Amino acid sequence: MTGAAATPTLDVNHRPQEIASPSGTSLLTALREDLGLIGARFGCGHGMCGACVVLVDGHPVPACTLSIDDAAGRSIVTIEGLAVGDTLHPVQRAFLEEGAWQCGYCTSGMIMAAVALLEATPFPSEEQIRHALAPHLCRCGIYTRAIRAVQRASRCHD
Ligand code: FES
Ligand code: FES
Repeated sequence: MTGAAATPTLDVNHRPQEIASPSGTSLLTALREDLGLIGARFGCGHGMCGACVVLVDGHPVPACTLSIDDAAGRSIVTIEGLAVGDTLHPVQRAFLEEGAWQCGYCTSGMIMAAVALLEATPFPSEEQIRHALAPHLCRCGIYTRAIRAVQRASRCHD
């Protein structure tokens, strides 16, 4: 029996979302072009810059390196899925309060990495924060402020 391939459905931001792109499409392309979730940015396209990082089953993963086929059945969370209504996630708030962005191109990836870090390690050392943010390239050089933002978000657990 033949028939059209089933439309892939991904679990994005805790909702099933239908994907129109064909098999083999990267998760990043599907998020941006099928779902209009443009917070994850296209930088290098090779898993080297961190601009496209989203959470996959709670882990930070470059969305440019994962196909929609491999993303199926897993929980995908993007920067758009962090806030609850008008209330920003503590990490988003901390980045704002520390002014930890300039052009903002790297910001969503860094925030997603920080969210994953604080979920696993609520009180990380500076070394652990540096390690978590290391895969994220920032042309504007806001690293010090990003570290302070993660430290500030960590204090929300007090
Ligand atoms: S665009 Fe995905 S890591 Fe650079
Ligand atoms: S704020 Fe511009 S690339 Fe990081």
